[in-house]
Amino acid sequence: MRILGIETSCDETAICLIEAEGDFGIGSPKSETKAAPNFKYKILGNALISQAALHTEYGGVFPNLAKREHAKNLVPLLEKCLHETNSPRQGLALPRLNIAELQTTLSREPELLKQLIPFLEQHGKPDIDALAVTHGPGLEPALWVGLNFAKALSKVWNVPIVGVNHMEGHIVMSMMEGGHLASFEFPVLALLISGGHTELVLSKRFGSYKLIGQTRDDAAGEAFDKVARMMQLPYPGGPHISALAKKAREENLTTDVKLPRPMLNENNLDFSFSGLKTAVLRVLESSAPISDTLKKKLAREFEDAVADVLVAKTLRAVETYGANTVLIGGGVSANTYIRAELKKRLDEVSSKLLVCPPELATDNALMIALAGYFHAQKREFADITTLKANGNLRLGDIS
Ligand code: KG4
Ligand code: ZN
Repeated sequence: MRILGIETSCDETAICLIEAEGDFGIGSPKSETKAAPNFKYKILGNALISQAALHTEYGGVFPNLAKREHAKNLVPLLEKCLHETNSPRQGLALPRLNIAELQTTLSREPELLKQLIPFLEQHGKPDIDALAVTHGPGLEPALWVGLNFAKALSKVWNVPIVGVNHMEGHIVMSMMEGGHLASFEFPVLALLISGGHTELVLSKRFGSYKLIGQTRDDAAGEAFDKVARMMQLPYPGGPHISALAKKAREENLTTDVKLPRPMLNENNLDFSFSGLKTAVLRVLESSAPISDTLKKKLAREFEDAVADVLVAKTLRAVETYGANTVLIGGGVSANTYIRAELKKRLDEVSSKLLVCPPELATDNALMIALAGYFHAQKREFADITTLKANGNLRLGDIS
């Protein structure tokens, strides 16, 4: 099956075409505990534009700017992706394009429509079987652009759509290893750490998710981004803070300041990062002018504090739910220090850690295509007349 993934939930516009076959263990007697080994995929085309630099001056993602950029980028990215693919095309003659229908579908995205019509006139229908598009969670104006784009393509190309939960995309991505499913056992505990989410999710089989812990205020990535902003570092701040912390470790720089480890010893699986961020702000305010050395020391202490809390809560959840496997996903899971600390502690309790290559931990369309394939295989297609963006879509609602 060839499936085209479309991702526009935040500040990455991404399109990826994969060819996938096999199954995720559905129907196999072992499906409750073991992943079936026969799923595999190939990337045929992949294109992504990050808007991060454009959002830097806002210190975070500015929803209307994100929406505008997605609308501008989608058609060129589709063109690039299909060009890479060299996909055979069945010619689609102009008269068959229902311009009025396209105008209705993309009435809120005039710039996208303007690019899409000539694109569709020039290119035939690519050889694809389904579309997979993120319908939440994320920024609603941004999600709608991807969704309406997918609806337009679905109508013109006559292919079905799968609405994908972005967080399921991160989970499925981390279950992969070199073009197939990694070998692991359920139950799987997923630690999802991104700019908008910090969640612990328990999965007893593919497609089943239970939210067992989450942040009560800021997400881990949001805390990284806000602390970076306080230190005048560009958005997204996670990689910059992490680079400073690394330097501090290499140079053996430590600070007497002990930042809080919020909720570390509380008997639950929830998180809180807002107080930690404020604690950093207080130190910075009382230390002006802020030297580069102080930045490095504080970045290290901050990263230590985040890692301590994430690792402790994950281990508590592993113990509580008897998880055989832990996976981490979402942008913050690209953090090498957090990965290493978690791996060290999970090795001690003989739990397996699944991670994906750092460049695939942040938002991309491959993860959407992969999760989309899982649902397409079960013929869980959306009704395009009712498919909606839902900024607060929850993973735990699916069981
Ligand atoms: O999953 P993602 O790409 O987008 C969302 O769905 O939010 O995650 C982006 C977040 C940002 O907050 C970014 O600062 C953070 O992931 N991030 C990192 C690292 N790389 C990205 N945080 C800490 N260390 C990193 N190396
Ligand atoms: Zn994400």
